[in-house]
Amino acid sequence: MPWQIRHAEPDDYARVIDRVDDWWGGRPASGILQRLFFVHFRPTSFVAEDDAGIAGFLCGFLSQTYPGDAYIHFVGVRPDCRGSGLGRALYERFFETVRAEGRSVVRCVTSPVNEGSIAFHARMGFRHELVASYDGADRDRVVFEKRL
Ligand SMILES: CC(C)(COP(=O)(O)OP(=O)(O)OC[C@H]1O[C@@H](n2cnc3c(N)ncnc32)[C@H](O)[C@@H]1OP(=O)(O)O)[C@@H](O)C(=O)NCCC(=O)NCCS
Repeated sequence: MPWQIRHAEPDDYARVIDRVDDWWGGRPASGILQRLFFVHFRPTSFVAEDDAGIAGFLCGFLSQTYPGDAYIHFVGVRPDCRGSGLGRALYERFFETVRAEGRSVVRCVTSPVNEGSIAFHARMGFRHELVASYDGADRDRVVFEKRL
């Protein structure tokens, strides 16, 4: 494998935050990626590195409300690394980690315009439904669920 996956570190934040809008094809995504994920959710957040730097990352956490659930907040793979299995590898690392913590359901949410994300999650075995006004008026979301 050309990349190594490890836990996220606070110093990684500065290395990703200024790039994610480009990685998202110009759609503003950085507003929902706060430093706190690289500080307070390190056991369930991961970074992949290759010779060119950060190749991808995943920020997730164990649900504080539902003891069987885990949640993936954000995943991104550097455009030149896409289609190489890195997104799958990051998800599988997360699944393995949260399964060891007794979690059996993984949830996440994406925007309906993000067709690539919807296709990716389908390939990763998630079921999905469109929920109107999920994140407020006129903010419909695609809500995913996967049983581990
Ligand atoms: C979504 C994303 C993380 C996928 O990462 P990736 O490394 O390219 O994914 P992988 O190569 O591991 O692909 C895993 C599977 O999903 C499929 N897949 C990935 N992206 C796809 C796309 N855009 N369209 C169709 N299928 C796709 C692959 O074909 C593969 O299927 P297979 O394993 O059955 O062959 C990446 O495209 C990305 O960073 N997108 C921009 C950010 C984003 O939208 N994040 C999600 C919302 S937070």
